Amino acid sequence: MAVFAFQNCIPIDNQKHSAPVPPANNHGTIVRVKKAKVSVTIRIAEPGDARAIAEMSRDLIESGLGWKYDPAHILRAMRRRESVVLAASGRPTYVAGTRPALAGFAIMDFGDERAHLVLLAVQPMQRRLGIGRRMMEWLLESALTAGMASVHLELRADNAAGRRFYRALGFSETLLMPRYYDGREAAMRMIRVLRAPGPLPLSWRPPVLGQN
Ligand SMILES: CC(C)(COP(=O)(O)OP(=O)(O)OC[C@H]1O[C@@H](n2cnc3c(N)ncnc32)[C@H](O)[C@@H]1OP(=O)(O)O)[C@@H](O)C(=O)NCCC(=O)NCCS
Repeated sequence: MAVFAFQNCIPIDNQKHSAPVPPANNHGTIVRVKKAKVSVTIRIAEPGDARAIAEMSRDLIESGLGWKYDPAHILRAMRRRESVVLAASGRPTYVAGTRPALAGFAIMDFGDERAHLVLLAVQPMQRRLGIGRRMMEWLLESALTAGMASVHLELRADNAAGRRFYRALGFSETLLMPRYYDGREAAMRMIRVLRAPGPLPLSWRPPVLGQN
């Protein structure tokens, strides 16, 4: 059984599987794809994104709690086989010689049969455009393909927008944990169940394109 020791949305999981490869595309699984309101490019983050991701984590997620997810920490997550670090760009950004600005990022860890969403954020000016939803759909589809039974996360209990976002993505609120962050701020634990827990039935196959 996986052991979780969290700070912020963050686990230490002692039994992990390799993170799955990205799904070939977004068609035809139980994950319902709602079209983003802008053109969104989702890709695996590269080392050159680490600083931008770390600064988004510091400013948009960890604010008031200290900066745990600094660039070195993000780089380690990128190197771990059990983790996926995603980068999202919300608009065409290919200007010769420049690195596209990040609209959002997400980090998910994959355990034996539990995936844990570690961090997820979208730049304030690019919210409510479907970028967060697109990243979550990518991750949920990856978790499903990897045979995960459920996806777990924690967020600050007073993060009403975040809670609404995850509820809109099919997550349920399961546990309020007082003084979870730094011994003072409460967290809400949320879960999305993908299949019954336990060994995969012999009949299990990865989702098939075009079939729900
Ligand atoms: C939570 C967050 C990632 C959402 O990203 P986003 O790109 O704005 O979300 P989307 O546009 O994909 O929203 C998808 C759905 O979630 C719900 N939703 C998202 N933000 C919402 C808000 N502020 N109020 C109410 N519902 C909201 C809506 O149902 C929305 O669909 P709609 O716009 O068609 O109504 C973003 O607000 C954020 O970065 N917040 C700060 C960091 C954070 O709290 N991260 C989560 C904890 S680690």
